[in-house]
Amino acid sequence: MNFKKNILCIGAGYVGGPTMAMIAHKCPQYKVTVVDINPVRIAEWNSDHLPIFEPGLDEIVKNIRGRNLFFSTEIEKGIQEANIIFVSVNTPTKTFGAGNGMAADLQYWEKTARQILKSAKSSKIIIEKSTLPVKTAQAMERILTHNHQKIHFDVLSNPEFLAEGTAIRDLENPDRVLIGSHQTPDGIKARDELVEIYANWIPPKNIITSDIWSSELSKLVSNAFLAQRISSINTISALCEKTDANVTDVARAVGMDHRIGNRFLNASVGFGGSCFKKDILNLVYLCRNYGLHEVADYWQGVVNINEYQKERFVLNMLAAMFNTLAGKRICLFGFAFKADTGDTRESPAFFIANRLIEEKVELVITDPKALKNAKNDLDEFKEEVSFVEDPYKAASGCHAIAILTEWVLYQNLDFEKIYRSMLKPAFIFDGRNIIDHQKVFEIGFNVYPVGKPSLTHF
Ligand code: NAD
Ligand code: UGA
Repeated sequence: MNFKKNILCIGAGYVGGPTMAMIAHKCPQYKVTVVDINPVRIAEWNSDHLPIFEPGLDEIVKNIRGRNLFFSTEIEKGIQEANIIFVSVNTPTKTFGAGNGMAADLQYWEKTARQILKSAKSSKIIIEKSTLPVKTAQAMERILTHNHQKIHFDVLSNPEFLAEGTAIRDLENPDRVLIGSHQTPDGIKARDELVEIYANWIPPKNIITSDIWSSELSKLVSNAFLAQRISSINTISALCEKTDANVTDVARAVGMDHRIGNRFLNASVGFGGSCFKKDILNLVYLCRNYGLHEVADYWQGVVNINEYQKERFVLNMLAAMFNTLAGKRICLFGFAFKADTGDTRESPAFFIANRLIEEKVELVITDPKALKNAKNDLDEFKEEVSFVEDPYKAASGCHAIAILTEWVLYQNLDFEKIYRSMLKPAFIFDGRNIIDHQKVFEIGFNVYPVGKPSLTHF
């Protein structure tokens, strides 16, 4: 079949895979190829067991794979054939040298730029899909324009706003698609080519444009604002626990003001995920670089409160369970950083598991989708941790349950049955406020929600 255009995506991860699946699904006239340096990941994308769990993703991929969606390790060939290249490689926080623990590690990004330069034989549009500090597109442009073959590259910024667990819904019906370009005739022409792709399913009013730096900055700021809301409500949860107020009632009252809005106000054990912390730290680093220390301190506070909230959760457990956890058996309900994903990157559960192991707890971990990743994450603690798929079996014989992921599954469990199988007094620490606290209290549990009075039988 003759395709109108060849689209390539470099990086077959949580963003590259679903994003390209959606473009291929909505645009049968384009051939979409996703490449990666990791052959195992590509083999999984080509198998019946996709490398990531995302509701609705399997159906789309299985429908169009081999028709206009392809997964491959042939990066050079992919670059040569493509008119448009999305770059969606990982951009973790640097763990060495200048900016250690704060700045973005751009080595994967720069390697990709050099690979494009080495392999390309014709002009192309390069689209920055990864989340990067402002002015990264400029750096890529400098690498790409440094060629002797008179090949022209237009670099655009097109940050991705999908959230894991709802990626397909977010991609199908995004609040906005943002495209940053140079305001030159070439930049605008490239931008319009990308607009043409999205216009296949997204209304024109939802496709917005800006200069490249503003686009890059908008992505960091969006994540910072979202995380800030969670940290804000989590600070209030601490105050509620001290004063016997109910954080859910407070969030409801505050969120009904339309100027504030009711989303992202769920107090929790803390936010996780591969991006919030990394992107805020990037913003902090950027501000420090420009000497804006007060601004940097303000955003650093959002991360600090998140660390405080996770630690506070562990200390609450310790205090409730008579100031000693050593030798006790505790079951973690959920290890994924949020519901509907198997992703455990920066999961609060990882932090809490480590802290409980320090307290000499015998841990049992259950999760419907994240046990494989949890096993990898806790590989060094084979003696201290066991992994059990069935939540009833996992909780059996335990002193306490800590609910760490907001899986709907945990709301519908038979807690009478669970209570009967546990050691007494039995405790539940609900780090997500998802179960009926009064009901489980009446069953016999001592219940510790986040930001609400505890319900105890002592
Ligand atoms: P990921 O780690 O799941 O995937 C990145 C992939 O890139 C990996 O499979 C890796 O092997 C591959 N890769 C690295 N270097 C490569 C190279 N030189 N050539 C080919 N492949 C290479 O990461 P992700 O979660 O998909 O995130 C990618 C980017 O998107 C990050 O910048 C992230 O901040 C941003 N983002 C992520 C999300 C999310 O929900 N995960 C949402 C919005 C934006
Ligand atoms: C987040 C953003 O929502 C996306 O827009 C963005 O594209 C993405 O980061 C990214 O850049 O990677 P994601 O991390 O996948 O998406 O998931 P969220 O739904 O934002 O949840 C993040 C964390 O906050 C989870 O641990 C979640 O449980 C927690 N959370 C969320 C709360 O504790 N309370 C809330 O009210 C909402």
